[in-house]
Amino acid sequence: MTIKEIFDSMDYGLAPESAADAFAWLVDQGSRFGLFIDGTFTQPGKGFESRNPATGEVLAELTQATQKDVEAAVKAARAAQPGWAEIGGTGRAMFLYAIARLLQKHSRLFAVLETLDNGKPIRESRDIDIPLVQRHFYHHAGHAQLMDTEMAGREALGVCGQIIPWNFPLLMLAWKVAPALAMGNTVVLKPAEYTSLTALLFADICRQAGLPKGVVNIVTGDGAVGEMIVNAKVDKIAFTGSTDVGRKIRQATAGSGKALTLELGGKSPYIVFDDADLDSAIEGLVDAIWFNQGQVCCAGSRLLVQESVSERFHTKLRARMKTLRLGDPLDKCVDVGAIIDPVQHAQITKMVASARNCTVHQSPVALPTQGCFYPPTLIEGLSPADPLMQEEIFGPVLVSTTFRTPAEAVELANNTRYGLAATLWTENVNLALDIAPKLAAGVVWVNGTNMFDAAAPFGGVRESGFGREGGVEGLMAYTRASEKPEPLAPVPAFESNDAPVAPGGLDRTAKMFVGGKQARPDGGYSKPVYGPDGNLLGHVGIGNRKDVRNAVEAAHAAKGWSKTTGHLRAQILYYLAENLAARADEFAMRIDAMTGKGTGAAEVEASLQRLFSAAAWADKYDGLAHGVPIRGVALGMKEPVGTIGILCADEAPLLGLISAVAPALAMGNRVVLAASQAFPLAATDLYQVLETSDLPAGVVNILTGSHKELGETLVKHLNLDAVWSFSSTDLSKMIEEASAGNLKRTWVNNGQAFDWSRDQSKRFLQAATEVKTVWIPYGE
Ligand code: NAI
Repeated sequence: MTIKEIFDSMDYGLAPESAADAFAWLVDQGSRFGLFIDGTFTQPGKGFESRNPATGEVLAELTQATQKDVEAAVKAARAAQPGWAEIGGTGRAMFLYAIARLLQKHSRLFAVLETLDNGKPIRESRDIDIPLVQRHFYHHAGHAQLMDTEMAGREALGVCGQIIPWNFPLLMLAWKVAPALAMGNTVVLKPAEYTSLTALLFADICRQAGLPKGVVNIVTGDGAVGEMIVNAKVDKIAFTGSTDVGRKIRQATAGSGKALTLELGGKSPYIVFDDADLDSAIEGLVDAIWFNQGQVCCAGSRLLVQESVSERFHTKLRARMKTLRLGDPLDKCVDVGAIIDPVQHAQITKMVASARNCTVHQSPVALPTQGCFYPPTLIEGLSPADPLMQEEIFGPVLVSTTFRTPAEAVELANNTRYGLAATLWTENVNLALDIAPKLAAGVVWVNGTNMFDAAAPFGGVRESGFGREGGVEGLMAYTRASEKPEPLAPVPAFESNDAPVAPGGLDRTAKMFVGGKQARPDGGYSKPVYGPDGNLLGHVGIGNRKDVRNAVEAAHAAKGWSKTTGHLRAQILYYLAENLAARADEFAMRIDAMTGKGTGAAEVEASLQRLFSAAAWADKYDGLAHGVPIRGVALGMKEPVGTIGILCADEAPLLGLISAVAPALAMGNRVVLAASQAFPLAATDLYQVLETSDLPAGVVNILTGSHKELGETLVKHLNLDAVWSFSSTDLSKMIEEASAGNLKRTWVNNGQAFDWSRDQSKRFLQAATEVKTVWIPYGE
């Protein structure tokens, strides 16, 4: 080839990375692996092969863990946990730091092994995956160091079961293991069956770092082993993978008291406005959808381009697709590597073959004769409702459509059941910062894409799961409050003393409060409320499914509340407190009449304090500007969860209600409440306070009746974003199981009492908000 020909074609020569060290390591291990339990590798057992997807060759034999193996791993983790917690944050920091150093020392071996096992280009494993893994351990060594001073009142959960996917094998391990260990937990981790090798190399690193036995345990195997971990005696499950499996895990752990975080799929929009730097947006798009062959949960897989530049953008895109280099992932010049497995390849092929009424364009690349490769693909002209626009393809396949106005862009972007990430490109800072908060996503990238860092929380909303990894939010998910709650006994309503009720008099049936108005129960049924002496105090309506639906619709319609300022919400909460204070005696008497405990006055006083605290927090529970290692910032913006259904505490009819509702309102949520089932009249007396407090209609809706029946309908309602239960009827299992439908956030008591006497506003503020990480690089 002449120099002129080389310049004309701009073809790259091969630049293969040597795999010799990685193969030598595999051979050294006998190319057969057992499990890593209690600090040692077990003898290899019956199992399965791990293959290189770029060639099909067998790399190693792995062991399928048995029930006994999983139990042994959990037992080892359990035994190690107290000691690991007791060495303190500074002690743990030293180990995490040592692991980070060793990861750095062996970074090339890890990168090559990852590429061999997963098929991702070496450029990515070398420059993105492995450096991010090291960063995660360094960053969390710091969090361990600071835990004792900065996380006062929090402690480790115990043993964490962690189940990870195959798309970022070592990185997902790091995201799970580093924060868990930093906070004093021990772990049993299962890598994905396709990609276990770097996890096994990591086990070796733990040994070299002198990590105490049993702190990290790694069991290999397929979904059946995952199920065993989910059902084992662990304190938390952290899962990353498909939404279907996430739902199953939600159901399997329901009512068990196990903490759960789910990082699931997505169909993330990639929005290009007409004033964007189009060439940069094209390069961003290459990273968004062809990074890791599109097998990325937050891949920018749905392109939305403003109509005025759409043709120009698509022309540039098709031209760029011609220059993408696909091939041997170990070649340093390769952009697109191999698909993880023939099963996944078949799934992508099937989905693309189903495309109708659209144009399918594929990169004109020569596919290697062996291995599992799929060409970069663009599908144009699909309608927004087309399954290919809605379903995750999890391959190098981009679907695209156009929009006219920013409002339409937001509507299209949010037209999905997912909410993991979103990217937007514009040179207009006003537009970018106007759109970012409107996108239903846990992460928003402005003029860039697929940026990650240990300091910046990552995770989704809607059916993309819940919980965050990275940042302080990520740590919170591996800790719990140190104080031990008491069991919560059911609080029964008092029975009638059968004394004759004086005829005549006023009808004292309290209605419900829906959409700012008092409403009769749809079913037309009510029930009596008796005091401790059995005397009739009044009647309340029995809410049914229709009442719940009306209340949820009213809350949903009161969207404007979520857009108000914290300052305004604070004013309204203060006003509410003033109006309640004016009737303090009346409420105190009512509570005493219902409960007979004589604590009414104290309950009202504490309720006023909760309202004042929530008002105080309304404009102070701030987000953060994370110090991420880019030229730019990552903003951690706190957003309201949306609509929350709350089953109020039975035992503290006013204080329980106000303690939960006030912080929820302060953060901009709308609520549907089921009043204390045993003592509902304090809630129904509140209507007049609410009506005179400038609270917009629909922001607070109050129902009365059975917690079980109201709760069942609430948790199944798709327009509700979260359900909290403080009911003394333990509905935890039912609520968590049914929440799997749209993966709504839940906070249930698992039969444990909440200490309403203490101001614990921060716990409620946390539960009432989602963190959105908005990445804004800057500079030329
Ligand atoms: P998957 O969700 O089945 O696998 C992820 C992990 O969960 C693996 O370690 C697997 O062994 C384990 N697992 C499977 N069934 C389980 C169960 N019942 N209980 C506990 N653990 C279980 O994902 P898969 O089958 O590998 O890929 C299928 C689809 O999932 C992909 O096409 C993609 O759409 C999505 N996916 C999403 C990922 C993400 O990062 N959000 C990662 C991998 C896959």
